[in-house]
Amino acid sequence: MALPKINPTHTAAWTKLQAHFKQVENLSIKQMFAQDAARANNMSIRWEDFLVDFSKNRATNETLELLLELAKEVKLEQAIEAYFSGEKINETENRAVLHTALRANQTTAVFVDGKNVVPDIYAVKHKMKAFTNAVVNGGKTGYTGKPFTDVVNIGIGGSDLGPAMAVDTLKYYKNHLRTHFVSNVDGDHVAEILKTLNPETTLFVVVSKTFTTQETLTNAQTIKTWFLQSDAKADVAKHFVAVSTSEENPQVFGIDKDNIFLVWNWVGGRFSLWSAVGLTISLALGYDNFEKLLEGANKMDNHFKSASFNKNIPVVLAMLSVWYNNFFNAESEVVIPYSSYLNTLAKYLQQGTMESNGKSIDRNGEAVDYQTGTIIWGGPGTDSQHAFFQLFHQGTKLIPADFIGFVNALHQNNNHQDKLISNFLAQTEALLNGKTKAEAVQELEAKGVSKTEIDRLLPYMVFEGNKPTNTLFINKLTPESLGKLIALYEHKIFVQGVVWNIFSYDQFGVELGKQLAGHILKDFKAANIGHHDPSTQHLIAYYKALKS
Ligand code: F6P
Repeated sequence: MALPKINPTHTAAWTKLQAHFKQVENLSIKQMFAQDAARANNMSIRWEDFLVDFSKNRATNETLELLLELAKEVKLEQAIEAYFSGEKINETENRAVLHTALRANQTTAVFVDGKNVVPDIYAVKHKMKAFTNAVVNGGKTGYTGKPFTDVVNIGIGGSDLGPAMAVDTLKYYKNHLRTHFVSNVDGDHVAEILKTLNPETTLFVVVSKTFTTQETLTNAQTIKTWFLQSDAKADVAKHFVAVSTSEENPQVFGIDKDNIFLVWNWVGGRFSLWSAVGLTISLALGYDNFEKLLEGANKMDNHFKSASFNKNIPVVLAMLSVWYNNFFNAESEVVIPYSSYLNTLAKYLQQGTMESNGKSIDRNGEAVDYQTGTIIWGGPGTDSQHAFFQLFHQGTKLIPADFIGFVNALHQNNNHQDKLISNFLAQTEALLNGKTKAEAVQELEAKGVSKTEIDRLLPYMVFEGNKPTNTLFINKLTPESLGKLIALYEHKIFVQGVVWNIFSYDQFGVELGKQLAGHILKDFKAANIGHHDPSTQHLIAYYKALKS
């Protein structure tokens, strides 16, 4: 069962939404609250330790009904079934998309090409668990017999961003192992990390699904050379492990067969942290915490599969985002976590969202004539308030926002927590209400500002408000709640790909740059570079002339 191939703009719901949009585009959310006393309650979902309040949106009950009608018309239910059951919904690469199977219970059966993949998943998990325990407890040591103190994850894209985000976000739960992430092919990046390391006590985890990625192999080779130069007795087998779909390529690199942790090609890179790609997460937090992360994701999977659409968190958030993207023509959306632990969340979601849904050809092979993937960005509150919030409040762009906060801080400093959460709530309130002329006048008068000065300043003091936000209020940051949150965004990406009728799980767009970089690298040594465009040719010549 393939994904349905329905052009969303040809559905009855889309036509209704277009007409409906004309009626509501200028309505204020404040008016909507005034007309519906139950709005805050009806437009929020309480699930496990999550409260998701989507009432501060430019959407009426009818908007939501029509959006969900659209979801039904594009056959989202059938698509969800295909997604979870191992159908090859990544048609352009002829692969299933089964990151959900990585966190399924051991008793579940998920078939790919007639084979139940769950036993293989659990075999790798057991290997990860034993390896993690041995490294953390000091049973497994480096070549001089000393326990490991540092772990370096060498990978890029999904082989870096997920593990790096999870380790950083959950650092409160970390053990004694120091973790480092080398991703960029920038030699200064790897050099800065190497200078902090002792080869005797450092474990290197080379993560690459394909084990052909230029950045990762270059960094791994540089690190291996550095390691072998440190001591004649330095032993690669004791210090290098690999995570890959290939058993051959890591061995060609010099990694022992026993030190290879397998992933499968039905795990997309940007959704791979739940697989052995998460080995550094397991090492940094301990295997039990890694399992809890997976358990959280599994709970969100079950919610997504079973909740009715109007109470389904990923579905509701995805469809509201479609509303802004395709009807209000919003170009981007922002994620603002009120927790410094989530500093890297936006960066992580950028790959998931933009590599998946940055597509312009639909599932019938036709160019789309409507907008697809949104630009996603963000940063933590309260820092972001002092950086880019001015544009939200008084700029000309509509940027829907997800505000994510935790009721309880991990370090239980209530003085800070109350201030943090008061800001978290105040910003969505300010974005909703804005400030009217009358309120601005009253404020200026109270400060003793003269009438002439008030008249001059007034236009600048008024905020239009009516800016849409979702509030995700979670009890506490734990491995489990992070697992739920990440899985929520994964499913939001899926739903949007289904609605936009695109293939979300390939990434051919990133290939061209890789190919051209290969040609340019060769041309740094070539006499004739005339086959490039004039600008690139000029820049290559400049580099060759000035490079020392
Ligand atoms: O950027 C393209 C991409 O294929 C990502 O999807 C992937 O996460 C990354 O490169 C790294 O690939 P690999 O794990 O094969 O090294």
